[in-house]
Amino acid sequence: MSGSNASAAKSVVGLILTALVGIPVFIYLVVKLFTSGSGIDLGSTTMTNEAIAARLQAVGSIKIVDSAPPGQRTGKSVYEAICISCHGTGLAGSPKFGDAGAWAPHIAKGFDTLVKHAIGGFNAMPARGGSPDLTDAEVARAVAFMGNAGGAKFTEPPVAGGAGGAVDPATKGKEIYESTCIACHGSGAAGAPKFGDKAAWGPRLKDGADAAIAIGIKGLNAMPPKGGYQGSDDEFKAAALYMIGQVK
Ligand code: HEC
Ligand code: HEC
Repeated sequence: MSGSNASAAKSVVGLILTALVGIPVFIYLVVKLFTSGSGIDLGSTTMTNEAIAARLQAVGSIKIVDSAPPGQRTGKSVYEAICISCHGTGLAGSPKFGDAGAWAPHIAKGFDTLVKHAIGGFNAMPARGGSPDLTDAEVARAVAFMGNAGGAKFTEPPVAGGAGGAVDPATKGKEIYESTCIACHGSGAAGAPKFGDKAAWGPRLKDGADAAIAIGIKGLNAMPPKGGYQGSDDEFKAAALYMIGQVK
């Protein structure tokens, strides 16, 4: 290649690079211009109160498997996303969902054995139903959910300290804690009783959780009313109970 060709090639490359980098930046800026003020923040993860509320609502009305954080999916949502593909119809000789006759010999092995087999695999049953991203607890919840539908009386391991149901106040409280309260209570900043610190929380709970929550709603010294949280009193209460639950 001659020198002039090389420099021509260089400037073509330069042009292409400029276009490759410049066009997306330009589009980003235009999008940003049109979305600013509408509550859509392209830059950060969506932790606004509105976004949380919208997500909670979605969780309440539809299947939660995709929106629940990893590790926090319920037995029902894991079943509906994964196990159903075989157990829904009894495919490949799997005990069919809701079929007490098919489940009885399996249930007779006991919960712990079933969970062990579901995690590690058993004959034609693949390990974790073929979904390696499921946590042990999630598999155990799905085993409890399916087992109970087949006549067992297993206790579904709870999700994140809450009940095993879909969205419970504990899950909601945890989200609010992680979006708001953690700023001070996570580290004990500004004299806030630190998350999980029994000694720090003890004196504040001597009159009961409700009294401490009422104080939190009004605000106290460096604790702004509701910790600066903009949502309802009930939601604040859920967050407070989540923190208090860690020191019981
Ligand atoms: C690819 C099909 C398939 C999928 C997906 C699947 N299973 Fe299974 N499962 C089976 C088959 C087949 C058996 C019967 C194995 C046997 O008894 O030989 C079985 C049996 C079981 C048993 C009884 C084990 C025992 O020791 O008797 C449990 C518990 C179980 N599955 C849980 C689950 C859970 C939980 C999921 C979802 C996370 C799941 N399975 C997904 C095919 C599947
Ligand atoms: C800006 C920092 C800050 C944030 C954010 C914050 N807190 Fe606090 N919180 C404090 C401080 C400081 C105290 C201790 C106040 C004192 O005793 O002087 C406190 C105390 C409390 C108490 C105990 C009240 C009592 O009876 O002593 C509760 C309950 C509480 N916070 C709940 C929450 C909840 C729930 C959130 C999130 C929705 C939250 N806080 C967010 C700083 C904060």
